[in-house]
Amino acid sequence: MDIIYLQNKVREKLTTQRYIHTLGVASTSFCLALRYGADYNKANIAGLLHDYAKCMSDDVLLSKCREHNLPILEVEENNPYLLHSKLGAYYAKYELNIEDEDILNAITYHTTGRPNMSLLEKIVFVADYIEPNRSEKRNHNLQRIRKLSFSDIDLAVIDILESTLAYLGDDKSKIDTRTLDTYNYYIDNIKNKNRMDGNR
Ligand SMILES: [Fe+2]
Ligand SMILES: [Fe+2]
Repeated sequence: MDIIYLQNKVREKLTTQRYIHTLGVASTSFCLALRYGADYNKANIAGLLHDYAKCMSDDVLLSKCREHNLPILEVEENNPYLLHSKLGAYYAKYELNIEDEDILNAITYHTTGRPNMSLLEKIVFVADYIEPNRSEKRNHNLQRIRKLSFSDIDLAVIDILESTLAYLGDDKSKIDTRTLDTYNYYIDNIKNKNRMDGNR
């Protein structure tokens, strides 16, 4: 897949600010893939395409998902921006001819995560949060999570989910249960595993 072709397609769809963020996510995904032994070309593409449908209004997101028969959850009905993930994966597949399921899943789950993510999914999820254009002034955990991402990606996933859930607060209409399910999965599977390993 020609990366220049994809960059041009993405640039047409996004604001300048969103496009700069996207390039940051692509290069950060590339570096994380090198660090953890994932396919760095796939990581670069997944990062580049993750927000392909981000610059659409709520109404358009809802109507396009209906038009293409993509399921809309109640939380997505209430917070249509969440739909940019699955709609972006749809366009990646049908407009840009991306067939790789792992890339498509990394796009689909980049906002909420999901239990038992593939390495590529975790990479894009983390890169979206730590890419260089995110401001440490506005997020006091960011410096720590940036460093953690390159030493233990699973712990970084947990910290990002924790920050996201704290940010969303107690507003049940805003919390996507997939974020909570992902958080619980990683707490159970990773923190407990690390604890048991430490006790050995
Ligand atoms: Fe996004
Ligand atoms: Fe993003």
